[in-house]
Amino acid sequence: MSYNFDTTLDHRYDNSYRWVQPEGRDDFIGMGTADLDYECAPCIKEACRRVMEENTYNYRMRPDEYYDAICRFYKANYGLETDRSWFTHVPGTIVGIRIALSAFANKGDAVLMHSPAFGPLKATIELAGYRYVTNPLVYKDGRYEYDAEDFERKVRENNVKVFLLVNPHNPTGRAFTQAELESMVDICAANGVTIISDEVHSLVVFDGARHIPILAVSETARRISMQVISLSKGFNVMSIPHALYGIADPDLREKWMQEYLPYDFHYASNSYAIAVVTALLSGQADGWMAELTQYLKRNLDECLAFFSRDDIAGTAVVPEASFLVWVDLRDSGLDLDRLGAIFREEAGIDLNDGADFGPDGRGFVHINFAVTNAVLKEALSRMERVLKR
Ligand SMILES: Cc1ncc(COP(=O)(O)O)c(C=O)c1O
Repeated sequence: MSYNFDTTLDHRYDNSYRWVQPEGRDDFIGMGTADLDYECAPCIKEACRRVMEENTYNYRMRPDEYYDAICRFYKANYGLETDRSWFTHVPGTIVGIRIALSAFANKGDAVLMHSPAFGPLKATIELAGYRYVTNPLVYKDGRYEYDAEDFERKVRENNVKVFLLVNPHNPTGRAFTQAELESMVDICAANGVTIISDEVHSLVVFDGARHIPILAVSETARRISMQVISLSKGFNVMSIPHALYGIADPDLREKWMQEYLPYDFHYASNSYAIAVVTALLSGQADGWMAELTQYLKRNLDECLAFFSRDDIAGTAVVPEASFLVWVDLRDSGLDLDRLGAIFREEAGIDLNDGADFGPDGRGFVHINFAVTNAVLKEALSRMERVLKR
């Protein structure tokens, strides 16, 4: 490997949100929040260094290179021709999703999501005054499947206005297939539903799976959808927030712009974010991403081997993308109302309790395996204490 993922900052002492230590302790392992422990791709440092040396932070337009990099990214990775006019940005995906909800629905309207669901998105829907409706993914033989019949029924019965798709899906790790996405799109199109597709987990994809952006699904999808991506997850740039919103359809874009423009995000974006996004989307870190994916796959394989042992309770749901594994502990004999607390108290591991993802997440845990391989080994040996049958 040309990049070093084995040596990192000691995140217990760098204000990492994930690695916060409880009062009086310094031995907790942070495996919750979805960021990476690794140092970023070198081109990010280089892009930031140039901005810093200018030391000039005046109002800036987004340069041509920025848009060229975005269009290149879609063409190179998904064979999709895009146009710069499709793209706007907001510093952070969830803020933009909240703005999009007000562009495409009225207060009190129903917004549909697959469940289990990422808690902050549910909170965004409810706190902004919309009705949260779920289409549960069906868990069968260790895999989550999309239930088209239930989806269509929920859309019709609730007069759903927006479908908030998360693809690849958090927490289950599913990268939906073309057939699944076409089914969702066609049901939405037939019922006047707009799709907001949150694709922040799409940069790390494991062998055998493929990420299909909503804008690449079909002509119909391009007519009714907005795609949201950020580079935070895959390239670990949460502190340089910049989410991209892609809308191909001019009428849909017009509705979005009416809500978006008053927020004043359309020019003078953060210079660091523009420089970093341009570097990354122009392909300068593609080699880094390939090696990161390899490193994560090795960690994932170790997790899967651990959970496939007969003497260990729990079944891991194999993720097709990203760096989080969803583990079914419903038959473990542990107190399912205290799973997060049990891992903290008995193993010194801070992970996400599945109940945070709604009622159908109860009895599961969500583990971030984007730690160094040495930390992962230590974590698995501590988990053995909790999960040994
Ligand atoms: C599904 C989903 N959407 C959005 C976010 C937030 O992403 P960002 O930090 O790029 O705004 C997360 C973070 O975990 C997420 O899992």
